[in-house]
Amino acid sequence: MARVIVVTSGKGGVGKTTVTANLGCTLAKMGEKVALIDADIGLKNLDVVLGLENRIVYTLLDVVQGRAKPQEALVRHKVLRNMYLLAASQIATKEMVSPEDMKNLVKELERDFDYIIIDSPAGIERGFRNAVSPAHMALVVTTPELPAISDADRVIGLLENFGFDDESIKLIINRVKPKMIKSGDMLTKDDIKNALALDVIGIIPDSEDVIIATNKGVPVVLDGVPLASTFENIARRLQGEMIPVEEDLKISESRGFLDFLRRLFGRRGDKR
Ligand SMILES: Nc1ncnc2c1ncn2[C@@H]1O[C@H](COP(=O)(O)OP(=O)(O)OP(=O)(O)O)[C@@H](O)[C@H]1O
Ligand SMILES: [Mg+2]
Repeated sequence: MARVIVVTSGKGGVGKTTVTANLGCTLAKMGEKVALIDADIGLKNLDVVLGLENRIVYTLLDVVQGRAKPQEALVRHKVLRNMYLLAASQIATKEMVSPEDMKNLVKELERDFDYIIIDSPAGIERGFRNAVSPAHMALVVTTPELPAISDADRVIGLLENFGFDDESIKLIINRVKPKMIKSGDMLTKDDIKNALALDVIGIIPDSEDVIIATNKGVPVVLDGVPLASTFENIARRLQGEMIPVEEDLKISESRGFLDFLRRLFGRRGDKR
């Protein structure tokens, strides 16, 4: 039976789709069979991030309205052959799908997969309820800024109303700039953990590699960049391994050090 995980947030644009795509790819690289569901109905995004937009024949709406079976609507990833996507429909509205539809859909897929990861839309209306209702676990993504944290707090309250307990809600802090934490200009992991009273399962550095990868339609973890190990840490924590979250930032610190060396040698080169 699959573990069903929803990736959600209070504030929009904090990195849900990025986390869904890259966590899915990482788990698939580790040998797990993964289905990603884009529940951001009305917009399409996850297919583009995964580079699969041209392969979509059926969408979530086709499944819900009985034109396709869930298995038929899944698109297989080009490189990671044990990862599949169920794409969102652009022509549908969120009201055309109900939480009950989503539960039925997941019920049909859960026997065939190790992980089902649902990418939730921004906001806390119907789309949020659709995405959350079939899940056993929620990853709440926030950036280290007060408005995002305050919205995350609101979503955590809603998740608790849905029956999620503290153990089944984990935080992911995205777009962290380690230099700013060091200089005291950014909220730290502990600040955020204390504010939201939940465990942090991953800290993802802010990295232009994410944007470069997105523009190529290749999830960043498949692009051979240091950030891949951050997502490996998150995947291994999901599988129960105890890896301190501070490990996640070491990657970007060492990257910063490499950049520093490059600049140093670059400057020397200029003098010659
Ligand atoms: N760690 C990161 N470093 C740099 N850029 C990032 C990072 N994470 C996400 N981004 C960028 O931020 C933007 C928003 O990310 P994404 O689409 O994943 O957010 P979202 O929460 O799914 O948004 P929405 O609420 O609209 O669905 C994208 O352009 C993405 O490339
Ligand atoms: Mg998104």
